[in-house]
Amino acid sequence: MKLWGGRFTKETNQLVHNFNESLSFDQKFYHQDIEGSIAHVKMLEKQGILSAQDRDDIIRGLESILSDLENGRLTISPDSGYEDIHSFVEGTLTERVGEAGKRLHTGRSRNDQVALDMKLYTRDEIDEIEKLVKDLLQELLVIMEANTDTFMPGFTHLQKAQPITLAHHMGAYFEMFSRDRSRLQDIRRRMNYCPLGSGALAGTTYPLDREYTASLLGFDGPTLNSMDSVADRDYLIELLSALSTIAMHLSRFCEEIIIWNTNEYRFVEIDDSYSTGSSIMPQKKNPDIAELIRGKTGRVYGALVSLLTTMKGIPLAYNKDMQEDKELTFDAIDTVKGCLALFTGMISTMSFRKDVMEASAKNGFTNATDAADYLVGKGVPFRDAHGIVGQLVLLCIQKGIALDDLSLEEYRQISPVFEEDVYDAISMKTCVEKRITIGAPGQDAMKQVIGIYKKMLAE
Ligand code: ARG
Repeated sequence: MKLWGGRFTKETNQLVHNFNESLSFDQKFYHQDIEGSIAHVKMLEKQGILSAQDRDDIIRGLESILSDLENGRLTISPDSGYEDIHSFVEGTLTERVGEAGKRLHTGRSRNDQVALDMKLYTRDEIDEIEKLVKDLLQELLVIMEANTDTFMPGFTHLQKAQPITLAHHMGAYFEMFSRDRSRLQDIRRRMNYCPLGSGALAGTTYPLDREYTASLLGFDGPTLNSMDSVADRDYLIELLSALSTIAMHLSRFCEEIIIWNTNEYRFVEIDDSYSTGSSIMPQKKNPDIAELIRGKTGRVYGALVSLLTTMKGIPLAYNKDMQEDKELTFDAIDTVKGCLALFTGMISTMSFRKDVMEASAKNGFTNATDAADYLVGKGVPFRDAHGIVGQLVLLCIQKGIALDDLSLEEYRQISPVFEEDVYDAISMKTCVEKRITIGAPGQDAMKQVIGIYKKMLAE
C-alpha cells in the first residue's frame, strides 16, 4: 500500500522499493508514531477540522494497533509492501476503522511526522542513557567512598609520577561522566520543541493549534520555522557527539582496566562472570568485555561522521538523504546503552588489590617531588633541590632500593640539609595527605568533593 499512488501509471520497480523503504528500521518508533498521531487528531477535532466521531474512531483504531503490536497479535512484516512505519500505521488504521482512517493525515506531511517521531524517540532514549550514566556515577561514588586511603601510583606517560589514591583516580572518571550527563541534559533542553504542524515545509492552510500538540506531547513549545523543522537534524548530531564522548571515556577507562588486569600490574581482578577464556590456552582469563567496549567506540564515532557528512550538502528543506539518520543513530544509541550497562556491571563486580597498588606506588620514586619539596622547605632553591634528588634517585637505582630505604648518612653525603624528619616527609601517607587543596587526592579534600558529588546525584 502506497500513500502516493495517484499520479503514477506504473508499479514501483522491486529494487527501487527495497532501496527506498525504511519500514525495516523505522518500525522501531511505531509507538512514537502512534502517540504523535493521537495528539494530532485530538488537535484537529479541537480546531473543528475533524468531527468528534472521526477523532474517536481514529484514536480507538490507533490504540488497538498499538496494543496488538505490543502483544504480538500484529506484526510488521517487511514484505507487507508498506514503505515506512507511517504508511503502515495509516494503512492498518484504514483497514480497521474505514473512512475515518483516511482523514488522519489532514494537515500533516510525512516530513513533519518523521521529524516528530525521531524527536520523540531520541528524547526517550536520552532519558534512558542519562539514567545509565547516573547508575555508573553512583557506582563510581561507592568505589570512591571506600578508597579514600587506598594508595596507588598516579601516572604520566604511563610512567609512575606521584602517589594518589584510588578514590582520586575514580574521581577523574566521575568528572568525565558527569560532564557527559550534563551534555545529555543540554541536548534534551535544546531539542525539546515540536515540529508537528510544519507540514511538508511551508506549514499548512488549516487552523492548526501547534501550541496544543506541543504541550500534549511534552514539548516546551512549537518550533518557529517550518522549513527548519523538517530539515533539522542538529539534535541528532549533538547526540551522536555526546555518545561519541561517552564512548571515548568508557574506552579510556577500559584501556586502564585492561592494563591493571594484566599479570604485570595485577591492580584489579575482573570477576569471572565478566571474563572469558581461551579455546587453546587453559590458563587464560581475558578482559573481553573491556576490549569490546573499547572496540565499539569506532562505530559510534562512525555514526557521527556519517551523519555530519550526509547533512553537509542537503539544500532546504526535506530531502530523502535524511532517512539515513535512522539506522546509524539507532545503532549508536543501542551500542552506547549496552556498553554503559556492561561497564557498570564489570566495575561493580571487579576487585581492587589494594596491597599491590600501594606496593607499586612505593617502588617507583613517586615521592621524589616531595623529597625536593622537603629541601625547598629547608631553604634550598627548587632547581637545586631537583638536582639533588635526581642524584639520590640515581644512587637508589644503582642499589635497587627506594628513597625511603637510604640511610640518613647517604642522604647527607649528597646534601647536608637532610635531617631525620625526611623519612616522615616522604612517606606515602604524607605525600598524599599534604595535597589538601580542592581537587587534590588528600583525604580531607577528597571527602569534601565526595560530599559535593553526593548532593549532585541526589538532585
Ligand atoms: N522514511 C522517511 C524518512 O525517514 C519519511 C519521510 C518521507 N518523506 C518524503 N517526503 N518522502 O525520512
